[in-house]
Amino acid sequence: MARRPLVMGNWKLNGSKAFTKELIAGLKAELAGVEGCDVAIAPPVMYLAEAEAALAGSAIALGSQNVDVNVQGAFTGDISTAMLKDFGAKYIIIGHSERRTYHKESDEFVAQKFGALKEAGLVPVLCIGESEAENEAGKTEEVCARQIDAVINALGVEAFNGAVIAYEPIWAIGTGKSATPAQAQAVHAFIRGHIAAKSQAVADQVIIQYGGSVNDANAAELFTQPDIDGALVGGASLKAPAFAVIVKAAAKAKN
Ligand code: 13P
Repeated sequence: MARRPLVMGNWKLNGSKAFTKELIAGLKAELAGVEGCDVAIAPPVMYLAEAEAALAGSAIALGSQNVDVNVQGAFTGDISTAMLKDFGAKYIIIGHSERRTYHKESDEFVAQKFGALKEAGLVPVLCIGESEAENEAGKTEEVCARQIDAVINALGVEAFNGAVIAYEPIWAIGTGKSATPAQAQAVHAFIRGHIAAKSQAVADQVIIQYGGSVNDANAAELFTQPDIDGALVGGASLKAPAFAVIVKAAAKAKN
């Protein structure tokens, strides 16, 4: 089954009002007329208003880097699914390793966020992946399975219909040391197989992105792999020309 690739930019804690407007103007120019790949950006939530306005009329979708499980009430500092929808956000990153590490988010808490997004009709982009120590100890598959099973146990495998998984080995994030295409493909095939054990139909349609030091030089080769359905891009998403090269590589490889 043909899956439409998704390339998404995770801006992390970067930007300003002016930067948001400028980068989006650059992306719109670079990506005009490019077809065959879904594209999304996740600026800091602080700049969703600027991003929504700047993206008007473009095919680039808006996303966010996080969401909270509560919809409203006395939850100081939190951002709800309804608020994200209010700005037209669609793809919502959850379980990023930086949040799992710095904010102690558990597999179960991330699964709750997944459920909140499904309930709201938003697309979860579930980040999973092992640390360097886990990788060296041969625990990559065990960690990925555990992180996926938290969602399956809470919500059932069908929750992955219309959802996105981003395999982001922690040792590859921001290090310049991407997984090789073969390394990434092996884990992606494992992830799809793990879901297929519960439902082949769900596994066939789920988008599995690779993330971790994806750039304009290595993207094309990563996208030659059959189970790599796009990329979640950090550093290289902050420059319109580099991000555009990655999007174009996905569109070319997958069509
Ligand atoms: P880099 O592309 O900067 O390695 O970041 C990857 C990432 O964490 C995307 O969510």
